[in-house]
Amino acid sequence: MKLSSPALLAALAATVLTTMASAAKPDCAPAQELFKQRCSACHAPDGTGYAAIHTPNFSDAKWQAAHTDAELIHSVTNGKTGEGNMPAFKDRLTAEQIDALVLCAVRGFAPKTTARKGGRAAHHTVSLLANARR
Ligand code: HEC
Repeated sequence: MKLSSPALLAALAATVLTTMASAAKPDCAPAQELFKQRCSACHAPDGTGYAAIHTPNFSDAKWQAAHTDAELIHSVTNGKTGEGNMPAFKDRLTAEQIDALVLCAVRGFAPKTTARKGGRAAHHTVSLLANARR
């Protein structure tokens, strides 16, 4: 069987979208609730932070683009001391909770069009396919 390239593209798009629906779209509600309880006192409920304690503004596209998911997960796990002091959560939260906090809550504050340092392959592939189909 010989597939034409539009058919191949459509098949690939369907596969990627199905994979995303099951794997890459975690239920973010618990992480958002956890953020309110454990993080918002320092990071503000809307993620914009407080200048007085040097928390970054998660809604800033440049800030989002300057950090990989891995860096942010590392900081929440082990803490980070820069101008301010971000506590370590490795003894208080599970690795799964920390991943979800970064991927859902912290990334969730990003403006919708934000490019990410390191990117995320699935999202990138889907937007390429969406563009190709336009
Ligand atoms: C006691 C206050 C405080 C709490 C509670 C807190 N943070 Fe932070 N967080 C900070 C400060 C201050 C910084 C900036 C550290 C610096 O100067 O780089 C920071 C930085 C960060 C960063 C950026 C790290 C980087 O690599 O630049 C992330 C992501 C983050 N916090 C997520 C969280 C999450 C998720 C929680 C809840 C589990 C949380 N924080 C709870 C104070 C806090």
